[in-house]
Amino acid sequence: MALSFNSMMTFPSHNLLSKSHNLRSPKIFMASTLHSSAKERENLKKSFLPPREVHVQVKHSLPPQQIEIFKSLEDWADKNILVHLKPVEKCWQPQDFLPMPESDGFFDQVKELRERAKEIPDDYFVVLVGDMITEEALPTYQTMLNTLDGVRDETGASLTSWAIWTRAWTAEENRHGDLLNKYLYLSGRVDMKQIEKTIQYLIGSGMDPKTENNPYLGFIYTSFQERATFISHGNTARQAKEHGDLKLAQICGTIASDEKRHETAYTKIVEKLFEIDPDGTVLALADMMKKKISMPAHLMYDGQDDNLFKHFSAVAQRLEVYTARDYADILEFLVGRWNIEKLTGLSGEGCKAQDFVCRLPPRIRRLEERAQGRAKQSSTVPFSWIFGREIKV
Ligand SMILES: [Fe+2]
Ligand SMILES: [Fe+2]
Repeated sequence: MALSFNSMMTFPSHNLLSKSHNLRSPKIFMASTLHSSAKERENLKKSFLPPREVHVQVKHSLPPQQIEIFKSLEDWADKNILVHLKPVEKCWQPQDFLPMPESDGFFDQVKELRERAKEIPDDYFVVLVGDMITEEALPTYQTMLNTLDGVRDETGASLTSWAIWTRAWTAEENRHGDLLNKYLYLSGRVDMKQIEKTIQYLIGSGMDPKTENNPYLGFIYTSFQERATFISHGNTARQAKEHGDLKLAQICGTIASDEKRHETAYTKIVEKLFEIDPDGTVLALADMMKKKISMPAHLMYDGQDDNLFKHFSAVAQRLEVYTARDYADILEFLVGRWNIEKLTGLSGEGCKAQDFVCRLPPRIRRLEERAQGRAKQSSTVPFSWIFGREIKV
């Protein structure tokens, strides 16, 4: 795959890192609104963004002949990908799992929900909130899919199979954040205003998946992510059951089964790319793995904790909802799913990429074990989502 790097620096946020606290202060925010010098307008813009890593953003790395592949796969996608969507009339809706507001028993149902939630520890709620916030940043993920050359929804109502998939996928995903958000609201266990602020910050920040408008990279990313969410919702389901809350287990398990369906669709697209263009696809996979798959909510911020995502991830790791081992397992699964070891007819670069990817899962595991061995004594961190109570990370 010939990568033509059309590079551009990201938003210049070097200053943001050093001034981030001041920039977020409401006083500065007010001043910026009242006066509108160029500097103040710039500061106002920065006040929406949390601290972030600054790096070169590569754009439009896929050459036109490879973009054409996606146009030629229109009919194939129609027959093979859209079938993994569920008709709306057959889909579950959040209301199927929540107290019925129109019923006389509503308050009793809420009371029961809250009684069950009392048995669940704080650290579980931190992870569930983080998962919900990740789902609630859905506008960002639809935007990300629509950055991809050759498959984006060109009009907002395009009738290509790719555009239909993206819109219907988004519509299915929309139920996930909706259901978890309503459940958490009713549970009474979490600080909804802090959670809502985190969602607003996160959507405002976007995400940086390093997919370069390139649908090869984009669909490798989504294959990985759908499996990651399948695993983490599956684990919150299992743990809810262990805490005695079968209804919450059902909520998380139902979401997990949607993620599994999405994983099937995205991995099928990449499987097809391997069939048509094994060299280009294995290079894309190696490229994505070298850059590391960043989690969709990696820019999470609640207005207080500059390391919120790191802290949330540490709790998810400790509770074994989503771990570094899962990351290695997902890659190993995808290597098997796409039969990477058996690819033939690759270029020299392609062979190197194949070798790199096949050896990577055990390497990640070894690094992880070493990191665990070196890990310092655990500390505790306050989470605004649970009213500042401290959680072990
Ligand atoms: Fe989801
Ligand atoms: Fe999904």
